[in-house]
This record gives sequence, C-alpha cells and structure tokens, in this order.
Amino acid sequence: MLGCADIAVRRMMPAMAALPGTEVTAVASRDAAKAAVAAAPYGAAAVEGYQELLRRPDVDAVYVPLPAALHAEWTEAALRAGKHVLAEKPLTTDPESTAALLGLAAASGLALMETSCSSTTASTPTSRKLVADGAIGELRALHACSASPGCPTPTFRHDPGLGGGALGDVGVYPLRAAQHLLGDELDVLGAHLVRGPGSRVETAGGALLATPAGVTAHIAFGMDHGYRSAYELWGSQGRLVVERAYTPPADHRPVVRLETRTGVEALQKWVQGWFNLVLDADDQVRNTVAAFAALVARTGAGHPGDGGAPDPEAPLRQARLLDAVRRRAALV
Ligand SMILES: NC(=O)c1ccc[n+]([C@@H]2O[C@H](COP(=O)([O-])OP(=O)(O)OC[C@H]3O[C@@H](n4cnc5c(N)ncnc54)[C@H](OP(=O)(O)O)[C@@H]3O)[C@@H](O)[C@H]2O)c1
Repeated sequence: MLGCADIAVRRMMPAMAALPGTEVTAVASRDAAKAAVAAAPYGAAAVEGYQELLRRPDVDAVYVPLPAALHAEWTEAALRAGKHVLAEKPLTTDPESTAALLGLAAASGLALMETSCSSTTASTPTSRKLVADGAIGELRALHACSASPGCPTPTFRHDPGLGGGALGDVGVYPLRAAQHLLGDELDVLGAHLVRGPGSRVETAGGALLATPAGVTAHIAFGMDHGYRSAYELWGSQGRLVVERAYTPPADHRPVVRLETRTGVEALQKWVQGWFNLVLDADDQVRNTVAAFAALVARTGAGHPGDGGAPDPEAPLRQARLLDAVRRRAALV
C-alpha cells in the first residue's frame, strides 16, 4: 500500500486481509509513524517512503490510493519496479497518461486495474436485465447523481495541483453508471462545471449525454452537497430507481425500486419468480480486490454476475468521457 489513505485503512486493507489470496505485506507512508500504525493490525512491514516499498522483493502488487494527480507517477514507478497495480479512481487525470500506463502494463505483462472500473455496482446487472426484459418498456433516459458533503478544512480534493475537483472525485460515479447502463457510445451534448466561492477547483457540475439511439443521460455531481448516490432509469412504461448506488457499505442490501404505469400488479408480475428487488449484500471493495487478485493470477475471473474479467480498456474509455465533459464545460 502506497500511502495511509482513508479508503485504504477503512476499506481496502481489511478486504485484502480477509480474502484468502491476498495478504497485506507492507505499508508505505511519507511518515514512518503513520505507516507503523496502519501496518500493525496486519503484521505488515512499515516502510518510510513509497520508493522504498517498491524495492521490496516480497511485494507482488501495489495498491495506489494517493491524490489523483499522483496516481500516474506512482503507478508508472510500480509497474517499472515489476509490480502489478491496483489504482484508485481516477487512474490518471488525462486520457493520454491512462493510455500510456495501460500500454506499459500490457508490454510488461503486469496487471493494472482501476478500482472504479473493476466492478459495477451490485444493482447494475439486475437493472440491466430488468430493462432488457422490458420491465419499464422502452428505455428513454437515465438520471444519475453523486455528491458528498463538504469538508471543514481543504484536502487534496480542493487542490488543482493534486488533481482535485468534483468531476474526478464524485462525477466519475454517475458517468460510470451511464457507461455501464447505456453503453460506451455516449456523446456529451452539454456540460457545466461550477467553482464554489473561493475554490480553486470545480465543486459541482452537470452533464447531458446521449446514446446514438437518443437515450439521454443527465448527470449531476458535487462535493459540497447533501449526500446523494443514485440512478434512475426511465422508460416508456415506468421507471427503476436505485439509491445508495455507488460505494455502499459492505453489508448494504441494494434495493431496486420498480414503478410501472400499472402499479403494484405489474410490479409483482416482474418480481415473482424473477428477482428479489432487495438484493443480497455485495461488498464491492471485496469484489474489487478479488477481481484484481484473479487478474494477477490470470484466472480471468471478474465481478460476480457481471460477465468475467475486468475490461482492461475500461479506464481509458472512462478517462475519455471525463475529458469530454471537461472540454464541453470549457466551451459553454
Ligand atoms: N475515501 C473514500 O471514501 C474513497 C472512496 C473511493 C475512492 N477514493 C479514492 O482514493 C484516493 C484517496 O482518497 P482518500 O480520501 O482515501 O485520501 P486521503 O485519506 O487524503 O489519503 C491520501 C493519502 O495520499 C498520501 N499523499 C501523498 N502525497 C500527498 C499529498 N501531497 N497530499 C495529501 N496526501 C498525500 C498520504 O499518505 P501518507 O501521508 O501516508 O504518505 C495520504 O494519506 C483518491 O484517489 C480517491 O478518489 C476514496
């Protein structure tokens, strides 16, 4: 682990320690004391400095949960040191660096995976199947949003030099939902990024996208907002809503709410014998680590229920979409 990040300590390391195929071997920090505290529960080595960790022969793979603008540099350093890499989202801050890293990993025969591209939300396969089976008629639109409350003190998320900003931090989730639910052929028709008072990065934004068939996706995101994490698929005959859609707690049981024109009767028709709309808990973090470990072992296993191994090109398509939103916002 490179850096004692909140997400690493709170979610990733417990998941890595719990899975049979992964072990937390070493934890690096810029501060030796911080590394010692984070490493202790796992009996892992505490290392001062990220480069020092990359020199260790007992480390097979590296997890990179640094501020976004540092992902590219340290992912490249890890790959060049012969380590597989699981990087936090967004993998880099531009499509060119993303493409270069994917190329380097492929050429080196090493696994490179981005956390947010590795697994869909637990509800996605169910939502996709309901739509494909006509539960809401013909699909017309997606509305998706993601927002987190502001911090009392600025963090790297407020620093443009560290890759801060709401688009990469929270906008990535609804954009990914659009890609997973509507496909990758999305045109960005319009976008707007908002800089809050005194902020050096965008603190909110929105975008309107469309598929070639004319299904629209309206995306909203922010990092100084009441918490939201949801998507809605709207069809000719009804709508399907999922709240707490992205990064839910490990024990969260996703609820897919289906509303149709004919109400409860139609709802039961779709539910009976098909899907329990209160889905089983599905720990995304655990799934991500398991998919990464399988990728490293080249077994090809992926997110359960989502059709196999993580797609290596997914981070590039996501980076291009983020870039298209940013460019479009600059034009209007
Ligand atoms: N927190 C979440 O819920 C969450 C969820 C999903 C994804 N993520 C992603 O995970 C990554 C980390 O997010 P986080 O919230 O966990 O961050 P965080 O707690 O602020 O940790 C970032 C770590 O990066 C290291 N670092 C190195 N240079 C730094 C610098 N100049 N400024 C600040 N930190 C520096 C620090 O580790 P040392 O001091 O130990 O070296 C720090 O602990 C981001 O890419 C984020 O998008 C976070």
